[in-house]
Amino acid sequence: MTTLKNDLMLRTLRGEKTERTPVWMMRQAGRYLPEYRATRAQAGSFLDLCKNAELACEVTLQPLERYPMDAAILFSDILTIPDAMGLGLYFEEGEGPRFERTVQTAADIDKLFVPDPNQELQYVMNAVSTIKKGLNGAVPLIGFSGSPWTLACYMVEGSGSKNFAKIKRMMYDTPELMHRLLDIVSQSVISYLQAQIEAGAQIVMVFDTWGGNLSTKDYETFSLAYSRKISHALQATNPGVPRLLFTKGAGVWLETMADAGYNGLGVDWTTDLKLARELTKDSVVLQGNLDPTSLYASPEKIRQKVRDVLADYGHGHKHIFNLGHGILPDINPEHVKAMIDEVHQSSPAYHQ
Ligand code: CP3
Repeated sequence: MTTLKNDLMLRTLRGEKTERTPVWMMRQAGRYLPEYRATRAQAGSFLDLCKNAELACEVTLQPLERYPMDAAILFSDILTIPDAMGLGLYFEEGEGPRFERTVQTAADIDKLFVPDPNQELQYVMNAVSTIKKGLNGAVPLIGFSGSPWTLACYMVEGSGSKNFAKIKRMMYDTPELMHRLLDIVSQSVISYLQAQIEAGAQIVMVFDTWGGNLSTKDYETFSLAYSRKISHALQATNPGVPRLLFTKGAGVWLETMADAGYNGLGVDWTTDLKLARELTKDSVVLQGNLDPTSLYASPEKIRQKVRDVLADYGHGHKHIFNLGHGILPDINPEHVKAMIDEVHQSSPAYHQ
């Protein structure tokens, strides 16, 4: 086992007493960085960048060269799994992800298969091992996947969606079909995350971006039940690798999410960390939750907002500082520096 130069994230996820709050940022490698835009232009499309291990490694390391982040996150996308299942992922400039083929019927589901991570998704595993080498033990590497529910949303709708009409219709009218789809996606997520760990990921995170669009009961049945299966499977095969789950818009569901087998839960900015902590009773680590638009404010205001988030969490060791969702592409990189510096300056007081 390699020893890390900075293992603060891992110690925090193990629930140990620490000297300060670790910090990283969702979408930390991305368009707000001019060096990212330059590498991306060199690669061609976003997917070309994901499929080029050397360049994917380069962009993963870019935010770490600028800021003292406590973790790196694999540069890839959650939609690699449905793409590997043959749905044909592409990106329409400025419009987000799209699929050439969608899943609507039982026959469409019959055609799906669990991708072999070392075949169809080999390029992701190459990226993981190249990044792991490039990091040279500086900080832990986070691997990730979309949640089955969120991946199914894209597979059925074919893109992001306002009302999720197609998948909601499938869920309400043909729940057995919905479960068949979620089941095959879950098996795919499990083997994908196991392979990322095998290739070098030291933490794994499940992104449930669209879970918040469900009612409480449906969230438990169609999203959390599958995220739970994933954590239980990984606990059995890779017990030493901490797991994070982020459901955007989860709010009071955090109480139920706390016993889904994850070491940490992401919290968006609409839920106060004090409430999140009360709901989860310190049984899990909480990750978040600065409003990503706070970074439009002046550096002084950003520093105040960071202090507010730290104060909301209060004294304790089970907090990972992050945004409440991904950083926006038009943020000034200097503003990110103010955020990180303030976490370094103000968080030690909460760890005494
Ligand atoms: O956090 C990181 O730095 C790691 C990389 C990462 C990306 N996507 C890179 C990316 C991660 C963890 C993701 C996850 C992802 N992808 C999610 C879940 C997290 C979330 O934000 O809720 C979702 C829903 C997707 C699907 C997706 N991929 C969307 C909605 C978009 C944005 C489309 C756009 O044009 O804004 C992408 C593309 C994408 N994924 C980019 C990056 C850096 C932008 C690509 C570019 O134009 O260079």
